[in-house]
Amino acid sequence: MDFKLSIANEILAAAKRAFGGAELNAADVAAALELPPNPEMGDYAFPCFKLSKALRKSPMMISDALAAEIRADYLSRVKSVKGYLNFFLDRATYAERVVEAVLSQGERYGSDDSGAGKTVVLDYSSINIAKRFHIGHLSTTMIGNALYKLYQFFGWRAVGVNHLGDWGTQFGKMIAAYKRWGDHDTVARGGVDEMVKLYVRFNAEAKENEALNDEGRAWFKRIEDGDPEALEIFEWFKSVTLADAGRVYDLLGVKFDSYAGESFYNDKMGPIIEILKEKGLLKEDKGAQIVDLEPYGMPPALILRSDGATLYITRDLAAAKYRKDTYNFDKSLYVVAYQQDLHFRQLFKVLELMGYDWAKDCEHVAFGMVSYEGQSLSTREGRIVYLEDLLNEAISKSRAIIEEKSPELEDKDGVARQVGVGAVVFFALYNNRIKDIDFSWDRALNFDGETGPYVMYTHARCCSVLRKAGECDAEPDFKALDDPEAQDVVRLLEQFPETCKSALNKSEPSMITRYSVDLAQAYNKFYYEHKVMVDEQGTRKARLMLTEAAKQTIAKALDLIGLDAPERM
Ligand code: ARG
Repeated sequence: MDFKLSIANEILAAAKRAFGGAELNAADVAAALELPPNPEMGDYAFPCFKLSKALRKSPMMISDALAAEIRADYLSRVKSVKGYLNFFLDRATYAERVVEAVLSQGERYGSDDSGAGKTVVLDYSSINIAKRFHIGHLSTTMIGNALYKLYQFFGWRAVGVNHLGDWGTQFGKMIAAYKRWGDHDTVARGGVDEMVKLYVRFNAEAKENEALNDEGRAWFKRIEDGDPEALEIFEWFKSVTLADAGRVYDLLGVKFDSYAGESFYNDKMGPIIEILKEKGLLKEDKGAQIVDLEPYGMPPALILRSDGATLYITRDLAAAKYRKDTYNFDKSLYVVAYQQDLHFRQLFKVLELMGYDWAKDCEHVAFGMVSYEGQSLSTREGRIVYLEDLLNEAISKSRAIIEEKSPELEDKDGVARQVGVGAVVFFALYNNRIKDIDFSWDRALNFDGETGPYVMYTHARCCSVLRKAGECDAEPDFKALDDPEAQDVVRLLEQFPETCKSALNKSEPSMITRYSVDLAQAYNKFYYEHKVMVDEQGTRKARLMLTEAAKQTIAKALDLIGLDAPERM
């Protein structure tokens, strides 16, 4: 139940009885309810000056009159303090209503159907062909995946797009290198690593031998002209890259609805250029075609190079239009590093200038950089951490910890995979997305700190409590949940729907990650202070129900950020 809304209704009804009513709606009153900083001030506080104007009375008068009027079974006390109304929930009723709501709504607890009939397109992960998946792509992949799940949770249709980086002159060079020095089996066996080697060799040798670059350009031209041999090799490079990336996606449990990448738009940019021309937006600048964005305080958007070649933004313009035409989205999100901030501001501005009112529905969901054990990553200096290696290392570290702590566990490999991957992903989703993150083993794999393994462990603890308890059909005595520890758990459970909603509205999965830690900590505190399996059956049942509600909500929170919740660890 929504306590804020109920209290708001009590306030309005009391105002009507005492003063003949105020022209206000319950939602506004509910929004004005505050969470007081300390328990002496109750569970909610309402500043009565908000009603002063409508009622033409002083806040003190209002709070005194309303405190005398308001009665409800879920409120133990209503106090008037200097123009504030302090509401004290009846602890047992509070616990009962929250726990029953969590358990009766099950999987759906925390959501609503506000997204029914709406569509969101999410562009995330968007890896580059012939490059290995390094940890720089972890945030986009997992933030995007979490948002995908959150939107679905709220009833949206979500479309996940992996906008592959599969266009550019470097692919001509790669083919040239492959034709000179490569062979099919080596690349097929070695995957992306072999392609990278060829590319590195090409660049090294091209420094001495300018003819190589011409060769590269010629192959690129052949790709562009649709030459069958060039296309075949290029498509094969793509499938090798995607097979490599597929292993990582499988480990992470991430899927996409579309892999339409940059090359998909080869034949879809013509109409965009036409519209830009028609609207008088294209300007010539030293042979190139640009859209002047100076009036908006941005450098120009380069649409066509002087040799007629299209650019990253040209493809993104076509992609945006294609997504609108194909999916008719209500929202289109781009989960991409903040370094591309200018690119997206330019993109959205050009769409707006083209007259597309849906440009306002496009949004760049930016995130910070990843470093590793205090070192920034750099491809050029060879300081690079591959995601697959990182995940596998996390899995084997988890395997060792499990071996030590729970040698009896069944399916150690499966659980090690869930925990290891969970540790890495949890780490990536723990801080506000815009903050840079420094990956550290100590902090990610700790079973006690604010980590994925800790939250998973708490979930497994709840499962174990419930397993050992077996059936208990007693009537729950919710008065047994009036202690501060149980009440903290109840309050967090009550806050889950609001947390999910804010995470959705702010595109901020970290709110759910942090929430899961808070709930796990609150439950553990409860668990240490109170015995669940007491003789008194009503108390036992109430504590078991609280445990079940905590377990279900932790599992859902983990699920929303893309993680499994093992039942045993
Ligand atoms: N492939 C790009 C990169 O790795 C990201 C693409 C993002 N999506 C887009 N529509 N521009 O930097």
